[in-house]
Amino acid sequence: MNPEYQFPDSFLWGSATSAYQIEGSPTADGAGPSIWQRFAHTPGMMANGDTGDVACDHYHRFESDVALMQQLGMQAYRFSIAWGRVMPDGTGRVNPKGLDFYQRLVDCLLAHGIQPMATLYHWDLPEALDNRGGWLNPDIAHWFGDYASLLFRTLDDRVKLWCTLNEPWVVTDGGYLHGALAPGHRNLYEAPIAAHHLMRAHGSAVQAYRALGRHQVGLVVNIEPKHCASDTPQDLAATRRADAYMNRQYLDPAFFGRYPEEMTEIFGDAWPQWPQADFDLIKQPIDFLGLNYYTRSVNRHDEQAWPVKASPVKQKHATITETGWEVYPQGLTDTLLWLKNRYGELPLYITENGSAFYDPPEAEGGQLNDPLRVNYLQKHLQAIHHAIKQGVNLRGYFAWSLLDNLEWSHGFSKRFGLVHVNLQTQQRTPKASAHYYARVIASNGAILEAPAD
Ligand code: BGC
Repeated sequence: MNPEYQFPDSFLWGSATSAYQIEGSPTADGAGPSIWQRFAHTPGMMANGDTGDVACDHYHRFESDVALMQQLGMQAYRFSIAWGRVMPDGTGRVNPKGLDFYQRLVDCLLAHGIQPMATLYHWDLPEALDNRGGWLNPDIAHWFGDYASLLFRTLDDRVKLWCTLNEPWVVTDGGYLHGALAPGHRNLYEAPIAAHHLMRAHGSAVQAYRALGRHQVGLVVNIEPKHCASDTPQDLAATRRADAYMNRQYLDPAFFGRYPEEMTEIFGDAWPQWPQADFDLIKQPIDFLGLNYYTRSVNRHDEQAWPVKASPVKQKHATITETGWEVYPQGLTDTLLWLKNRYGELPLYITENGSAFYDPPEAEGGQLNDPLRVNYLQKHLQAIHHAIKQGVNLRGYFAWSLLDNLEWSHGFSKRFGLVHVNLQTQQRTPKASAHYYARVIASNGAILEAPAD
């Protein structure tokens, strides 16, 4: 035990998932299909032809999953709501059975003493809205505001932490610029438009929350420190562009009401000018910011890297996860300090942090050892403690992910879970990392210096 690593008493320990990645039954009980349902069923888009049709069958197994969280000592759970389950067409008609699913989930969490954190948008746009232009249609800010209002009216008496969007950067980079994620577009002109309407939708949901909600609402972004491979002016400029593109493109408008100046350099004439009223909508004060942190990148100038002209340089001697990401815990401390210094003192949560590593397929003697994931967890928890010691107002940590789940277009080939899922039998087996995390939670961090199992 090392009291050095004791966390604040009110620190919230939890884990995170998202609807399409775990629920399965995407069109059950009157739910409308999402763009992920369509994308996953488009030949060639998903590794091994995997889909979210069954996923972890959490739609039917949420009660035992919540009981498992309780056994592991988790105090909080971040999940997302599938827009099309509660509003099959994305606007208008409400599906009572879909809404009821999330009410039962929230009630079950509370009955087990677990605090819910709900994300309104984790990438599964109703297909009906995509057919009307999706994130390219300016009306989506109001569609999202109406959908958010429905959830606030239904659940704000029980949910005290709300996230509007999960990782708007990934939605536009993967969905509209490079096409690796739904809806699979590859269009320089669309990406800035989608990005802007995402942020308007965020603002519209925060506005709705101020009218209807009594607790806290925030935004979740993924941030990756951008380091430079050399000190040449070209590499430094490339690193600055990469940082603007991924890290500041969403936070600057949310906090300062403007985009970083590098955006025109990156997008050229594809970068639109927007009216001031849009920024007034986007820049709603939020109660907290959620940080998803996985890795850093070291950048160099690269003419071929469309459109940012920066590409990552592989680091020798680094531990690299199954998704090709360098394990770099220091970046988490640095990012928390950067957020505090650039955007102010508002409360922060780590809303995702975790790693995909190859795991043994089945438990041996009831034990499933994942030493690299244990190590990743230990190092990143130490990193957040270092940030707290330096004055960062960090309120909680949500490990990604509770379960091995559908890693988007990688299908089930990348496993991020603390809990192993046998996809044939749906049996859950906590890995060594889950047991390790349970001990961290039980000691409120005090075991952190102990060697990882
Ligand atoms: C997303 C998750 C995803 C994780 C690992 C984040 O970008 O929010 O849905 O599974 O990273 O790639």
